[in-house]
Amino acid sequence: MHTIVTVVGARPQFIKAAAISRAIARHHADRLREVIVHTGQHYDPDMSRVFFEELGLPREHHQLEVGSGSHAQQTAAMLTGIEQVLLHERPALLLLYGDTNSTVAGALAASKLGIPIAHVEGGVRSRHKAYPEEVNRLITDHLSTLIFCPTLDGMRHLEREGLPARDIGPFTADRPGVFHTGDIMYDNSLFFAEQAERTSDILQRADVEAGRFALATIHRPHNVDDPEVLGDLLDAFIDVAETHDLQLVLPLHPRTKARIDQDLPPARRERITGHPRLRLLPPASFLDMVQLERHAALILTDSGGVQKEGYYFERPVVILLDKTPWVELTASGSAIETGADPAKIRAAATELLGRKDLHYPRIFGDGKAAETICERLIELLEQPPAH
Ligand code: UD1
Repeated sequence: MHTIVTVVGARPQFIKAAAISRAIARHHADRLREVIVHTGQHYDPDMSRVFFEELGLPREHHQLEVGSGSHAQQTAAMLTGIEQVLLHERPALLLLYGDTNSTVAGALAASKLGIPIAHVEGGVRSRHKAYPEEVNRLITDHLSTLIFCPTLDGMRHLEREGLPARDIGPFTADRPGVFHTGDIMYDNSLFFAEQAERTSDILQRADVEAGRFALATIHRPHNVDDPEVLGDLLDAFIDVAETHDLQLVLPLHPRTKARIDQDLPPARRERITGHPRLRLLPPASFLDMVQLERHAALILTDSGGVQKEGYYFERPVVILLDKTPWVELTASGSAIETGADPAKIRAAATELLGRKDLHYPRIFGDGKAAETICERLIELLEQPPAH
C-alpha cells in the first residue's frame, strides 16, 4: 500500500480532487491510500464544505486553517503546515492540482523534503507572469516528477520550457514523466451533468428560463479590487443582458461580494444590485453551476474552470481576462478574450450570440483522465529506484 498526500485548498481543487478520489476508490483502493490536506485557503462552507459533500470527496485528514492573507502570509503559513504533515505522514508522493497558492506551497514543501510531486493540470500557461496563478504553475511544473497535461497545447508549452513528453521511466524530478492525459474537469462535467439535470433547482431559485439568461462570474483581484473596474464590468453585464433580452445570473465569490458591499459608491451599488435583469446569488455548488452552464445562452467569466466548462457544454464564452491560460478555447472561435473592457465585452457578446456556426472540437480527452493518471501514479510508485 502506497500513501499519497493530496493538497487542496481552493474551490476548484475540491472539484478536481473528487475525480481522482473517485478513481482511487473504484479501482485502486488496494494499492493507494490517499491522505487529504485542506490548507483552509477557502473556508466559507459554500466555498468548501458543500463541494466535499456534493462530490463525495472524502473528508480531509488534516485541516491547516490558513485562511486569508497577503500572498506571502498565506503561502508561508501553508508551507509550514504542509511540511509538518509530510514529516508526519511520510508519503511516497504528493499530489497537487492546478495553480493556486495551496499548490505552490505544496510543491515547495515536498521538493525540499525530496518527496516526488505529481502535478495534475500541468503545462497550462497564460504567458503572463503578472497573474499569481502563472507563477504558481511555472514553479509547480518545474519541481514535479510527474506532470499530467490536459491538452496538447500544454504539452507544447512544457516542451518549450525544456520538459518534453516523456512516458518511459524511471522518472525523477530532473527527468520527469510528462503525459498528455485529457482534463479531469471534463471527466467531472460528464459525470455530474445528468445528476445536475435531475437534482438541481437552481434555475427556479434564480427565477430564469433555460436559454434565456447569461451566466457571469468574476473574482480575479484585477477585476474586482478596483471599484471603477468592478462597477464598469457590472454595468457591461447589464448592458449585454438588456441588448440581448436576457437575464443575468451572477453567483458571487466572497471577495466580489465584499468589494460590491464595501467599495462601490452607494448610489452606483444600489442602481446595479437592484437592477431587474440581475440575479445576484451566493456562491453556487458544483451541481448548480453545471446546471447554470448547461442552460445559459452565454457565459462571461474570469474563471479558468468556468470558461472550460462552458466549452464542454458547447456554450459561447466571453473571457474577462487579457490572457487566458486556455488558448484552445479562443483558437476554436467559441470564446473571445476581452479583459475588463466594456466595449470589447459588448462586442464579443454580440458576435458570439449572432454566430450559428460555433464549434467545439473534443480536445479535452475522453472523460477518463483520472483513470489514466492513477495508473501512471502507480507506475511511478512501483518503479525501481533511479540511480
Ligand atoms: C483563488 C486562486 C484562484 C482560483 C480561486 C477560485 C490563488 C492565488 N488564487 O483565488 O486561482 O481561481 O481561488 O475561487 O490561489 N474569501 C472568503 N471566503 C472564502 C474564501 C475567500 O471570504 O471561503 C475571500 C477573502 O476575503 C480572501 C479573498 O476571498 O481574501 C480571496 O481568497 P483567496 O483564496 O486569496 O483567492 P481567490 O481570489 O479565491
